[in-house]
Amino acid sequence: MDYDFDAFIDRSGTHSAKWERTEQMFGSRDVLPMWVADMDLPVPEPVMEALRRRLEHPLFGYTFPPDSLYEAIIERMRRYYSWEVDREWITFTPGVVNALHIAIDSQTVPGDEVVVQSPVYYPFFSAVKNCGCQITNNQLRYDGTGYTMDLEDLCAHLEPSTRFPLRSPRVRALALCSPHNPVGRVWSRHELEQVAEICLQNDCTIISDEVHCDLLVDDVQHTVTSTLGPEVQRRTITLMAPSKAFNLAGLAASFVIIPDPQMRRQFSAAAAGHGKVNTMGLVAMEAALRDGDEYLRQLNTYLRHNIEYFSERVSEMPGLRVVRPEGTYLTWVDMSGLGMDDGQLRDFMINDARIATDFGFAFGPGGEGFQRFNLACPRSLVREAVQRLAGAITSL
Ligand SMILES: Cc1ncc(COP(=O)(O)O)c(C=O)c1O
Repeated sequence: MDYDFDAFIDRSGTHSAKWERTEQMFGSRDVLPMWVADMDLPVPEPVMEALRRRLEHPLFGYTFPPDSLYEAIIERMRRYYSWEVDREWITFTPGVVNALHIAIDSQTVPGDEVVVQSPVYYPFFSAVKNCGCQITNNQLRYDGTGYTMDLEDLCAHLEPSTRFPLRSPRVRALALCSPHNPVGRVWSRHELEQVAEICLQNDCTIISDEVHCDLLVDDVQHTVTSTLGPEVQRRTITLMAPSKAFNLAGLAASFVIIPDPQMRRQFSAAAAGHGKVNTMGLVAMEAALRDGDEYLRQLNTYLRHNIEYFSERVSEMPGLRVVRPEGTYLTWVDMSGLGMDDGQLRDFMINDARIATDFGFAFGPGGEGFQRFNLACPRSLVREAVQRLAGAITSL
């Protein structure tokens, strides 16, 4: 079927965080919500069908992940990434942030260090802290147009014997965001190989959050970190979910793939007592992963046009630079050219541009002066955002 992504869907009355929390979060109702990462676009029809079918049954007791869900994941990993996944490697969690906490907890003891690469999705920081660990920041390099990883700096953090002889080797894990939110990089195979090699040489586990893996601009290819080779696979915990690409975040359904048996045992011990994926989440996840290809094709095309439209216009505005994403539906805009501090920029976005974005400073060092725009919405809203922003810039 052809999806009508241009249609505006009124989300009022659904307790939408993005639309119905704007006043609480931004102190104004009169802001166009382009912040939290969900889509104002309909979910795949096969998902709706599967949910409707399940709703016809009058009972919602305890459920377990069915064989068909495992098969859908295994088949998807094979087809998209040439990755042969064993059923026993798969486990389920109610959300990726939940899985991130469990993964960090399972690989560390309080006081250990975990590497993050800022600017990065802010729960990476809180997850490390909530596990009693310390953040070691391997800040990304920004050259005014795009981002790369600073591998020298990563080595310096992980190789205590050469650069920091007195430091004990306590960096246990790298929390990798791949594709990267907010900078929109889809790390190349070569970049991932370099990072993985550094981690392996330094006995560092890779926790690879790949929740944005299906959202790719043009012909960009996503490489699953674990597919880089058997050694990397043994040291990697992969976090995935249909929540971003299929707009199912509210159903809190995600999966984790851990090939190494010992790491699996550690993960399952750390997960004890945590919640499970709910009945409807399991149903939706299976339908999306198995029958969502056509939707994804149309969605990525639509999002690409939104990104192009936005990037071209915003790049023409004085003082603004758009970091063109290779993946995700998030666009990271460098507004440092406006010469405002973060407080002024926040006021400018809320009161002058009247757009609710995610403020760059929340993503950690390197995020200052930036704003993250969520472009997963009908094009009319992207146009509205561009108009509001252009008007506010003109009045400066
Ligand atoms: C990199 C990354 N991980 C995790 C999440 C959230 O996942 P969940 O809602 O499944 O916890 C997001 C949401 O934007 C994200 O960008």
